[in-house]
Amino acid sequence: MENIRESHMQLKKGHRLILFPLPLQGHINPMIQLANILYSKGFSITIIHTNFNPLNPSNYPYFTFHSIPDGLLECEASTEDLTLLISNLNVKCVEPFRNCLAKLLLDALDEPISCLISDVVWWFTEEVAKGLKLPTIVLRTNSICSFLAFAALQLLLDKGYLPIQACRLEEPVHELHPLKVKDIPVIKTSKPEVLQETINKMAKQAKACSGIIWNSFEELERDALTTLAKDFVVPMFLIGPFHKHFPASSSSLVTQDRNCISWLDTQAPNSVLYVSFGSIAAINEAEFQEIAWGLANSKQPFLWVVRPGLVNSSEWLEPLPDGFLEMTGGRGLIVKWAPQQEVLAHPAIGGFWTHNGWNSTLEGLCEGVPMICLPNFGDQLINARYVSNVWRVGIHLENNLDRGNIESAIKRLMVEAEGQELRIRTLNLKGRVDLCLRGKGSSCQNLEHLINYILSF
Ligand code: UDX
Repeated sequence: MENIRESHMQLKKGHRLILFPLPLQGHINPMIQLANILYSKGFSITIIHTNFNPLNPSNYPYFTFHSIPDGLLECEASTEDLTLLISNLNVKCVEPFRNCLAKLLLDALDEPISCLISDVVWWFTEEVAKGLKLPTIVLRTNSICSFLAFAALQLLLDKGYLPIQACRLEEPVHELHPLKVKDIPVIKTSKPEVLQETINKMAKQAKACSGIIWNSFEELERDALTTLAKDFVVPMFLIGPFHKHFPASSSSLVTQDRNCISWLDTQAPNSVLYVSFGSIAAINEAEFQEIAWGLANSKQPFLWVVRPGLVNSSEWLEPLPDGFLEMTGGRGLIVKWAPQQEVLAHPAIGGFWTHNGWNSTLEGLCEGVPMICLPNFGDQLINARYVSNVWRVGIHLENNLDRGNIESAIKRLMVEAEGQELRIRTLNLKGRVDLCLRGKGSSCQNLEHLINYILSF
């Protein structure tokens, strides 16, 4: 915290930014990291957040916080239908957000507000800010390649790829090479029309805003960026990976179990498989048991994050096979939530079995940890395809989640020559990440452009 304060003091003052994160873990982390990055460059930061999944201001004494009522009913806040949750938030937060922003602008006499930085999934914000004569830059927290696929959903519908037919899963989607039909980013919802509306509004906002910030880097997604720029003619700033500027442990909504770090300290280098499926993904009991058997039968050390809620209709570990803990005792550790970035950077970690949420994917890449990919929904399907087929740093567990396939994938990654090749390739990518964050590196340069752009408003 002292470092970040010092760098803030050394730089220009008098420009305040308003940030509005979407209140979900995978969106909060990158927005807070971005807030830290911009604060360290001299900007003052105000964060507007909802009562739903609120942030804890005492973790960030150098930011100013304003909370707004989200108006969600209890049943709306607890729904597992992500599409409906996002849609309801977007409907119910418009007025509270407008009122809060208008008041902040009125009160900001001695320190001008340069712009709003909003998660693009808050699709009403650009219009509200425009009405108050404030420019908006949006943050897209996912990969560019997955954004391209979401933006193409209407086209895929028109071309007959959707709804997905079971007999066409392995067919290539020519319009989105190298995706297959089974990678099209479907999200289960009781209201598909609401999902399409959300995506359309998000894309419309991304075209109307003053710029898009990406938690990605040019060396990784140059081709996707070129394709995107044909259709989205707004300034793009690839300044990631954010967490390499500042870690994000303070924005965890759940307490991280730090005991796993001392356990990792006792393990051999590159020996432990870290298994985590992020903050939203859910699996059924049968899948959970296959995963457990696969881990047990592989005989490899593992650290497994079993988040309460990971297994549908279970509290926590009840569906574990009988005798699992005895069978794996000593070489396996289960926790509810881990300090993931620290875990992935630990020398004992040799592989990452992930759902390929974009934060997890980037965090794995940045530490040179090769992956096993088990995407669950949405953008994860695309990230997994890129990890396995384009960047070639992971094994895609795509057919039959059964214990035999799992055991074999774990051994291929952790002890066989294939895993070693993947590790070398991932370390190569890590080298490129390190370069893009230094002096003349692409992300550093793009950050400078972003700062100058904001100061030009
Ligand atoms: C969601 C979507 O599911 C994902 O597809 C999208 O790309 C971002 O929003 P989530 O599923 O939570 O995110 O995954 P991810 O993007 O990987 O973010 C999870 C974050 O939680 C990471 O920053 C990770 O470091 C952190 N985490 C995860 C922990 O701190 N501890 C854990 O035990 C697991």
